[in-house]
Amino acid sequence: MKNSAKANVGIITGSGFDAFLKQLDPIPVETPYGKSVSLSITDIRGRKVAILARHGANHSIPPHRINYRANIFAMHLLGVKQILATNAVGAINRTLKPGTLIVPHDFVDFTKSRHTTFYDSAPIVHIDMSEPYCPDIRRTLIHAAKEHSEDIVDGGILVCTEGPRFETPAEISLFQRLACDIVGMTSLPEAVLARELAICYASICCVSNMASGLQPAQNMNDLTTITDKKRDVLEQVLKEAVPLLPSPRSCICATAVRDTALQWLDRHAKGIPFDDRCL
Ligand code: HPA
Repeated sequence: MKNSAKANVGIITGSGFDAFLKQLDPIPVETPYGKSVSLSITDIRGRKVAILARHGANHSIPPHRINYRANIFAMHLLGVKQILATNAVGAINRTLKPGTLIVPHDFVDFTKSRHTTFYDSAPIVHIDMSEPYCPDIRRTLIHAAKEHSEDIVDGGILVCTEGPRFETPAEISLFQRLACDIVGMTSLPEAVLARELAICYASICCVSNMASGLQPAQNMNDLTTITDKKRDVLEQVLKEAVPLLPSPRSCICATAVRDTALQWLDRHAKGIPFDDRCL
């Protein structure tokens, strides 16, 4: 993708959004963390939007093999400041049912093997996670979904597991005791990496199944049937949310990282030496 390509908003889709992307012309972006999956830039009601399918165009990358750092850094290189994500999840909270849409407000990270930070050496950055998903994007997604007269659950705790296997009933029972509501495999470290680059990030999740132990067995066909059914609605909600996003931003995400740390990262990415004493 040309260096001149720019976008302010990013959309990261999960399973089953191939049609959303098909008419576009996706190309990967080179980053210091490797190639991102292919991205397209499109116009949604006057806003330039970069769209990325995290599992790749043919849904060929499993959750634990996604290059989350390359994908989020590609968004940063394009100038993206606000990301709307979608995730398929299983319901741990029995009041949720397959087909429900939910915008989580917090998460628990049970992933094991992923690169979870851009700040692997000096400058040491301990990013604030007191409000892990951007409150403004959450509000916008919920508003857009209500406008669409969709049932939408405002808030919930997402637990992210490593996958690609589903959880055991004992694991789900543990997560229930930790007050988790939904379980997925892809929200982390995406949300953290976005915050580390001062990018706003929130997700609208589609419950595709009851978690393990709460239904007889997991069946990928059933999961896909539910996400397929909800795809059009989710696409509409995302498209309606884009022009409603606050600009300029006044949320905590915009100032989450010191400018000097971001400058260091950008210079490091280009191989330009940067005086550590500036930090
Ligand atoms: N567990 C983990 N990830 C998921 C699930 C689940 O039950 N459903 C959809 N993504």
